[in-house]
Amino acid sequence: MNIIGAYFSPTGTTKKITWTVAEAIHQSLKESIISRRDFTLPQARQAPLEFLVGDIVVLGMPVYAGRVPNLLLPYLSSLAGSGAIGLPIAVYGNRHFDYALIELSDMMKQAGLRVIGGGAFIGEHSFSKVLAKDRPDDNDLAIARRFGEAIAEKIRRNDLSHVKLPGDENDQAYYQPKAQAGDPIDIRPVKPVTDKVRCIDCRLCAKRCPLGSIDFEDVSKTPGICMKCGSCIKGCPTQAKFFNDPGYLYHKTNLEETYTARKEPVYFL
Ligand SMILES: Cc1cc2nc3c(=O)[nH]c(=O)nc-3n(C[C@H](O)[C@H](O)[C@H](O)COP(=O)(O)O)c2cc1C
Repeated sequence: MNIIGAYFSPTGTTKKITWTVAEAIHQSLKESIISRRDFTLPQARQAPLEFLVGDIVVLGMPVYAGRVPNLLLPYLSSLAGSGAIGLPIAVYGNRHFDYALIELSDMMKQAGLRVIGGGAFIGEHSFSKVLAKDRPDDNDLAIARRFGEAIAEKIRRNDLSHVKLPGDENDQAYYQPKAQAGDPIDIRPVKPVTDKVRCIDCRLCAKRCPLGSIDFEDVSKTPGICMKCGSCIKGCPTQAKFFNDPGYLYHKTNLEETYTARKEPVYFL
């Protein structure tokens, strides 16, 4: 059997969890092979996301606004399962995963994968250095390993029954940030700014951008769409990138102050 850890992971938390689950399955299933399919960067999304019968696909996505990141939907429509086993993993920043896990699972089923398990895990919030700081931690990764081992056991028993995942059909709305007065705010047009004194022009931000939106010749310009994934900010070696939009900053602080209670991973099979 081929175990494939497939993920979109701008700041690396989804990658850690997805790979930990994939490795645990690999270690529990004798004579299996493991590989990764990282489709975070635009070049990696040239080829469709196709799998074969006999594959076990651990598919990890971060949760954006309570859903699968909508800018990735066109690429995810290339998903083809051909009877492979599928395990959706939603990674969220300690607010909630809302409809994202079941949405990912439904996409996988529609693409012909057998979804026999799935889970929601916590990763440091893309917007923040304090919300779910340094997660996934050892405890999260131990749960990810337990999930992988339980899946391997289910496969060994030849139990390929579909899993039932949580998610409210009637509440699929994208989570909407709110301004101080409680009115919804639209942070979609917000783009990162660059501290030109700190910037050493290493162009790592442009190389890391999952949408290829940062101008390689002048990295202070972002002509393309920004999904606020945090890759350019968290990946900058000199902390030269940041957001200064007041609405975005209010929303970030609000999340940090509201969701302080630690959430724990959950998995289903
Ligand atoms: C645009 C955007 C929206 C997000 N929405 C949510 C959300 O609704 N709930 C939540 O708990 N975390 C949310 N997050 C946080 C990410 O899901 C979380 O930090 C995840 O671990 C990031 O994965 P990555 O490290 O693989 O990029 C959001 C992040 C971004 C960039």
